[in-house]
Amino acid sequence: MPERHLHLNAFLMGVGHHEAAWRHPLTDAAALPDVRHFRNLARIAEHGTFDSVFLADGVQVWGDIEHTAAQVFEPITLLTAIAGATSHIGLIATVSTSYSEPYNVARWFSSLDHISGGRAGWNIVTTAGDRSAQNFSRDAAADHAERYERAAEFVDITNRLWDSWDAGALVVDKRTGVYADPGKVRELGHTGRFYQVRGPLNSIRSPQGRPLLVQAGSSEDGKTFAAQHAEAVFTAHQTLDSAKAFYTDLKARVTEQGRDRDAVKVLPGIVPVLGATQAEADRLARELDELIVPVRAVRQLSEMIGVDLTGHPLDRRLPQLPPVQRVNGAKSRFELVRDLAERERLTLRQILSRLGGGRGHQVVAGTPDTITDHIQTWFEQGAADGFNVMPPLLPHGLEQFVETVVPRLRDRGLFRTHYTGSTLRDHYGLSNLAPAAV
Ligand SMILES: Cc1cc2nc3c(=O)[nH]c(=O)nc-3n(C[C@H](O)[C@H](O)[C@H](O)COP(=O)(O)O)c2cc1C
Repeated sequence: MPERHLHLNAFLMGVGHHEAAWRHPLTDAAALPDVRHFRNLARIAEHGTFDSVFLADGVQVWGDIEHTAAQVFEPITLLTAIAGATSHIGLIATVSTSYSEPYNVARWFSSLDHISGGRAGWNIVTTAGDRSAQNFSRDAAADHAERYERAAEFVDITNRLWDSWDAGALVVDKRTGVYADPGKVRELGHTGRFYQVRGPLNSIRSPQGRPLLVQAGSSEDGKTFAAQHAEAVFTAHQTLDSAKAFYTDLKARVTEQGRDRDAVKVLPGIVPVLGATQAEADRLARELDELIVPVRAVRQLSEMIGVDLTGHPLDRRLPQLPPVQRVNGAKSRFELVRDLAERERLTLRQILSRLGGGRGHQVVAGTPDTITDHIQTWFEQGAADGFNVMPPLLPHGLEQFVETVVPRLRDRGLFRTHYTGSTLRDHYGLSNLAPAAV
């Protein structure tokens, strides 16, 4: 039985995951539009032998323009630039199934996989929120269930497009002039509820065949989708119990689909607020907390859970929230916030402080030892196959993590000391389970 190792994904977001990161003296907001900043982050993560780096994405301005550090880069473009500055680390980009066409998306990831030598991954999102829809000639987002139905048809098509060229399709015979064997390249002839795609893809099979498929929704529909299609799942949990319940549920759904339970890796988020001592970590957490601009935080929370909380008094508890069935935004994040507020009887101001670090992902302030303990506990108690590491400040927090937590994880035999493969699927232990190169 091979040793079980953690998978670590570096979730890169601007100059840090804390919503006020750009205001902290340890960050440089001028780095946001600078590709060198992101290349540097990826190199730090690669030095720490992380499995992958990951970029989230939306198709609208996030939060309010006045107080929010703006996202500058579109992920596929940025990861293509990062590919040339790294050699092993996986490159996971978010692309929405609601506002793109399968043929475009299949090409983008095929290109990234070719350029990076087999390191591409796709975080498949359905995109909640009407503001995004309004950038694409629509008034409102489609219903939650319809978004996932569209996503299922979308991914079925992209998979078939990536498979439309067999690995052995190229002949390249200079003498006869035969470049490719048309018998090894197939049309799709797809006609479904949402899409009509003829195919084949206009790109030869890429090193991984298909990019690693990642999914990040945790509602009922989200979990069903993940069990059918995903190979890694990003998820947000506030407690060990909630993460364990999610992990158990998702793995059961995966086996119900006839898939190997290890074919899907579950990665909850962790925001490590590190200090040499607990007092130092707590001080950093407090400093960050004090930089939150409440009016902005309320707007972001309203957008995130799909319920308008602007104007609600900060020192009161939340108003009566609608039943989750009526929420058309991110259902699992809505439930996370509702449960947190009820469990701990929090006021709106306290909720903003709890969410400021990681938008619902668990924030752990501590020393390298306590954070290593935390990771080990979740890993060994059936809550995680690895973690989405979300440093509050970048690059500072990622450097700290790589210098202090990674060596401890290695000493405990929980994490690799060097890369043993070259593709993203290799790192996630999915090479054997990868779609066959026919
Ligand atoms: C770690 C993580 C990263 C995510 N990144 C994105 C993203 O980049 N873009 C996006 O639209 N949604 C993103 N989401 C949101 C999910 O795709 C999904 O909409 C949300 O979790 C709610 O899904 P649900 O309605 O199935 O619960 C992310 C979620 C998680 C946990």
